[in-house]
Amino acid sequence: MDQDQLKAEVARYATEYIDRYLRSDSIIGVGTGSTANYFIDALAKVKHKFDGAVASSEATAERLQACGIPVYDLNSVNELEVYVDGADEANDALQLIKGAGGALTREKIIASVARLFICIVDESKKVSTLGRFPLPVEVIPMARSSVARKLAAMGGQPVYRENFVTDNGNVILDVHDLQIDQPETLEQDINGMVGTVTNGLFAVRPANVLLVGTPSGVEEKTGQPQRS
Ligand code: 5RP
Repeated sequence: MDQDQLKAEVARYATEYIDRYLRSDSIIGVGTGSTANYFIDALAKVKHKFDGAVASSEATAERLQACGIPVYDLNSVNELEVYVDGADEANDALQLIKGAGGALTREKIIASVARLFICIVDESKKVSTLGRFPLPVEVIPMARSSVARKLAAMGGQPVYRENFVTDNGNVILDVHDLQIDQPETLEQDINGMVGTVTNGLFAVRPANVLLVGTPSGVEEKTGQPQRS
C-alpha cells in the first residue's frame, strides 16, 4: 500500500470509530490536509448521522460544503464532541507537530474546544522524538523578523514560507533543527514570543486517540481520556 492508500484507509476507519459519538444534532470538528480530505470524503457517506461540521480552514469548509455537509461557525456551537485531523509528526505521548498546510491556529482552537481529539496519520508520521519535521509558527506579518531572531537564538533555523498567507492573514516561519526534548515547555515558550499567533506543537493539548494506518491495518493508540 502506498502512503495515499494508508491515509485513505485510516480516514475511513476514523468514520467507523466516531460512529458511537454521532447523534442527529452532533457537530464534528474537521481538520485540514490530504488525510483530512480523505476523512471528509468518507464522512460524506454517513452525513445523515450528524448535523454538521466546524472547519479548521477555508479549504476544508469548501470541501465539506461540496459534499453537502453544513459548516458552522465555531462561535455558534456550544459543544464539540469530536475533532478529527491529521498531523505531520506524532510521538508516543500523542503529542504532535501540525501546520504544514498552514491551518495550525484554527486547528489548535478547535482542538482546545473538542472533548475528544482523534488524530489520523499514516505510519510515516510516527516518531520517537518530535522535531525532524520543521515546526510551523504563525506570526503577525510585522513581527516576522523579530520572532525569527528569537527562534534563532533558541537554536532553530527559521525559514519564511514564501508566497503563503494563512486564512487569518498572517505568515508562517518553518523552524528547522529545533531540539524538542520538552514539547509542552517549548510550545508555551514560543507562544509567549510577542507577535506569535501560535505554533504547530500540539503538546499541552495532545490527541486523545491516535489512529495509525499501516500496511497490516489501522493501529489504535490511546492517550489521555477525553474531557468530560
Ligand atoms: C495542516 C495540518 C495537517 O494535518 C498536516 O500537515 C498533515 O497533512 P497531510 O494529511 O496532508 O499529510 O496540520 O495544517
